[in-house]
Amino acid sequence: MNILLCNGKGGTGKTTMTVLLAHALAEAGKKVAVLDRDPQGTATKWLNRIEDKTVSLYEHTKQYDAVFIDTPPHLKTLTPAIAGCSVAVLVCSPSPADIWTTLDTTEAIRPHLPAKSRLRILFNGVLANTILSRDLPEIAKQIGVKPLSTVITRRQCYQHAALYGWKALDQAAREEMFKAVLEIVTEK
Ligand SMILES: Nc1ncnc2c1ncn2[C@@H]1O[C@H](COP(=O)(O)OP(=O)(O)OP(=O)(O)O)[C@@H](O)[C@H]1O
Ligand SMILES: [Mg+2]
Repeated sequence: MNILLCNGKGGTGKTTMTVLLAHALAEAGKKVAVLDRDPQGTATKWLNRIEDKTVSLYEHTKQYDAVFIDTPPHLKTLTPAIAGCSVAVLVCSPSPADIWTTLDTTEAIRPHLPAKSRLRILFNGVLANTILSRDLPEIAKQIGVKPLSTVITRRQCYQHAALYGWKALDQAAREEMFKAVLEIVTEK
């Protein structure tokens, strides 16, 4: 199964979610790889530098239970990556600018989504008990895409994960990741 993480806007957390969701599924015993389709190569650098080798960079000669695909923040280069994905996850932080670009991204990718694939929003960087966090169902409705019921909150440990990997995550962050990845891989 190929899981594409995308958004036409930079800095929404695509790479962070790609690597950590992949780790969460690998922790659950699956063979998982990350395919880095972003020329910035952030996911590649991340996985090459951390000690933990639970998640590999994708090699086309190998078989995996799931491949998490990181993508660049440009719509033009995004569309070729969509072919063959089972789930496309729009990583979106609940700020107005992110919401608008998520709308644009949705319009741009919908025509390219494979017939049986799913499109979902993953809200990332959410601050609990804020007005925007309460508005998430309404924001998803405006974008016209079903959100995952798991929301990823803003936590410093997600930033530390780029240096130390999965072990940087505290229990609450791990639980968010497990719940989100379970929804992504099991929902029909
Ligand atoms: N839930 C979160 N809590 C705190 N910081 C976060 C969270 N998600 C991402 N970040 C931080 O936000 C920054 C941008 O994240 P990331 O590089 O994953 O975004 P991106 O969408 O891949 O960016 P680009 O479009 O440039 O590839 C990083 O510093 C990352 O550590
Ligand atoms: Mg990135």
